[in-house]
Amino acid sequence: MENGIKKTPSSDKINSGMKKTPSSLFSITELDDFYFQHLSRSPRLNIERKISLDGCSISGNLRHIDSHECISPMGGFGHRAGFDTPNSTSDNVYEPHMMVVAAWDALRKSIVYFRGQPVGTVAACDVTSEEALNYDQVFVRDFVPSALAFLMNGEFDIVRNFLLKTLQLQSWEKKIDRFKLGEGVMPASFKVLHDSHKKIDTIMADFGESAIGRVAPVDSGFWWIILLRAYTRSTGDSTLSETPDCQKGIQLILSLCLAEGFDTFPTLLCTDGCCMIDRRMGIYGYPIEIQALFFMALRCALQLLKPEGESKELLERIMTRLHALSYHMRSYFWLDFQQLNGIYRYKTEEYSHTAVNKFNVIPDSIPDWLFDFMPNRGGYFIGNVSPARMDFRWFALGNCIAILASLATPEQSIAIMDLIEERWEELVGEMPLKACFPAIDGHEWTSVTGCDPKNTRWSYHNGGSWPVLLWLLTAASIKTGRPHIAKKAIDLAERRLLKDGWPEYYDGKLGRYIGKQSRKYQTWSIAGYLVAKMMLEDPSNLGMISLEEDREKPVVKRSSSWS
Ligand code: GLC
Repeated sequence: MENGIKKTPSSDKINSGMKKTPSSLFSITELDDFYFQHLSRSPRLNIERKISLDGCSISGNLRHIDSHECISPMGGFGHRAGFDTPNSTSDNVYEPHMMVVAAWDALRKSIVYFRGQPVGTVAACDVTSEEALNYDQVFVRDFVPSALAFLMNGEFDIVRNFLLKTLQLQSWEKKIDRFKLGEGVMPASFKVLHDSHKKIDTIMADFGESAIGRVAPVDSGFWWIILLRAYTRSTGDSTLSETPDCQKGIQLILSLCLAEGFDTFPTLLCTDGCCMIDRRMGIYGYPIEIQALFFMALRCALQLLKPEGESKELLERIMTRLHALSYHMRSYFWLDFQQLNGIYRYKTEEYSHTAVNKFNVIPDSIPDWLFDFMPNRGGYFIGNVSPARMDFRWFALGNCIAILASLATPEQSIAIMDLIEERWEELVGEMPLKACFPAIDGHEWTSVTGCDPKNTRWSYHNGGSWPVLLWLLTAASIKTGRPHIAKKAIDLAERRLLKDGWPEYYDGKLGRYIGKQSRKYQTWSIAGYLVAKMMLEDPSNLGMISLEEDREKPVVKRSSSWS
């Protein structure tokens, strides 16, 4: 047992219930996995041992955890973050404490092991679901809230192992049909396969070639960098991030994004479905989620990269890009009442650099809903900006990340929270939080989604409510000094989440219905709740996922100051 996590050799049990992997997935046999074994040795940190909790053995097709592996989230046993969370409203079906216990229990069930080492968590452990599809895989984006929960709990090994495992996957030769992908591309997900005859574990990874619609996981690399910084910040140990492999990994990811090309904007051009919204939803172009994650990853890289060798020039490019990106986003993606009124009165067909309406947006393209939705107080970063196109929809993840990364100015951050409060019913309703608002319907739904039956109005990515977003809302609330918003949202989640079996998403204008095709025991719904609770309980946890505004021109920092 190292750093509080007991190694378990039971990966055959874990994987026994999983489906056969499609042959199109990349696979590799890693008998001689010296690299991983070598690098995955954790720093010997002084972490309190976890105390067992009675009665937490787990059934199902995963694995049995003996009571020594369980952590009691109650009573402060070996916890860095306590759980004396504020009382929730009396009509809650479950006691919040009981929910926290159940959440840890469920989170532990989702752990995936590779050669006895924890390397991630599966997307969902829904035993009732007929088809696993790819929910039995470890998704990079889905693992982030799990990782934060583990870090906040002082369990570092699983996060370290995950970072190293995915880094190793990055170095695979990635080909889709006859097309070779960029060296820096990180997988959307991976899966551990156990061969019980040969007694070996192998990994299969998906870089988009198996995903429905062959969508590109542009966000994976950014999340990887953000998580590496969270790990470094949380452990106070920069030996992992300073290894040549990690430094190279960051360089490769960012080289993909900072390459010079035909672009006229500093934002990153993407295809549809390239992030959490991984289906056709009209987010192609310059989606806010990617721009915010890109910005945050660039800022994390500034802290992580050692200013030597190849990184020196890269650091210069990062700073130049950050400068241009923040200007572009703050000027052109930002929308509040004033801005909207300006766009409403835009002249069109302006030529030359003196143009006010730089993207030639036709005022008639402003959707009707927006005039009512826009409060006098408040604002947000819109979904997308490109020639003659402003996607005015609200996207939660991008706006919360913009606050956490300080892509939003302090005034803009406050305005985003104002908007959430002013439009609580629309954006939060009965279950936090709408991934996107409003839903598209009718002819627009036909043309934008290609008649996607999973993304019908007020469902899934199209106006559905995602409990995982609770941790981001909580973090943004704390950062802007409004923890009461987080409390209110957590209260809502506590009324339903456990009772409903931790659904992946909810449907309906108010988020009242468990989603049509929603998985149960969705890991990031569980982890998102835990992270929200721990962050509210101990706001110092925010530091691992938040960056203060750089008022000065960014200065290259060595990765020494992590406190
Ligand atoms: C769905 C979601 C995606 C998530 C995956 C696994 O495809 O859209 O964001 O990563 O499920 O949970």
